[in-house]
Amino acid sequence: MTARLAIVGAGGHGREAMMVSRRINRLYNNWADIIFLDDVPAGSDELARLGATLAGGIEMAREPDIEHVIAIGDPSTRMAVATRIGDATRSSTLIDPDARIGPDVMLGDGVMAYPGAIITTNVRVGVHTHVNCAAVISHDCRVGDFVSVSPGVMINGNVEIGDGVFLGTGAIILPGRTVGQGAVIGAGAVVCDDVEPWSTVVGSPARPVRNGAGPATPAEQSGFRQHRPQLLPTP
Ligand SMILES: CC(C)(COP(=O)(O)OP(=O)(O)OC[C@H]1O[C@@H](n2cnc3c(N)ncnc32)[C@H](O)[C@@H]1OP(=O)(O)O)[C@@H](O)C(=O)NCCC(=O)NCCS
Repeated sequence: MTARLAIVGAGGHGREAMMVSRRINRLYNNWADIIFLDDVPAGSDELARLGATLAGGIEMAREPDIEHVIAIGDPSTRMAVATRIGDATRSSTLIDPDARIGPDVMLGDGVMAYPGAIITTNVRVGVHTHVNCAAVISHDCRVGDFVSVSPGVMINGNVEIGDGVFLGTGAIILPGRTVGQGAVIGAGAVVCDDVEPWSTVVGSPARPVRNGAGPATPAEQSGFRQHRPQLLPTP
């Protein structure tokens, strides 16, 4: 227990990651210290109420005794930050003690699962994907890299979610559907049809409000695949 855990991103999502990592540390004593890193000094009152401070900028995640998670909700920003930090560094996987991870589940580095998240069986989750509070990923799903699964999302069986997809709070993906890379699913949407890459869909049944314009940022253009280390089976 010599490593420090850096939570990269000191906003609301980062403060939630602090909650999860402290809960893990109380049980397993994984890290000597848990710190926040961010380039923008924001939310100092909120950090102070958690008894935490900003230890430095994002580059500090490269220090050899630091493991990190990237607690930034937007998939492409998260991807850009992962690119800045680089592959040679150590990403942690943060699984809340009250998340349920079933058998035959493999999680990539940097995955976070918040309280009440459930991942059942024969599921693969790519690197730096976040599964928020009370979200469910059901059997036989493939979830890509840098995906954001917001609170209360229900991904039913045999679903494929592409890299960099953002799923809004409470969205439901019906069984067997495919959501293309970079798509945005609105809060509360019920996805009954496959979703085109880079499109935005809302409502029930979900309909496009914006069609796939393609990758917008250099990080998106470079693709979400460059950070794929070995997927680790869960214990
Ligand atoms: C889908 C979403 C990304 C669209 O955001 P946007 O690109 O800024 O789009 P707009 O707000 O301009 O809305 C476009 C249209 O879709 C409608 N719309 C937006 N979100 C909607 C939703 N979730 N359900 C139904 N309709 C929605 C708007 O009313 C608007 O309709 P109009 O053109 O008839 O006025 C956003 O509304 C959303 O649902 N985000 C999810 C937020 C979330 O869950 N965050 C989780 C944090 S942990």
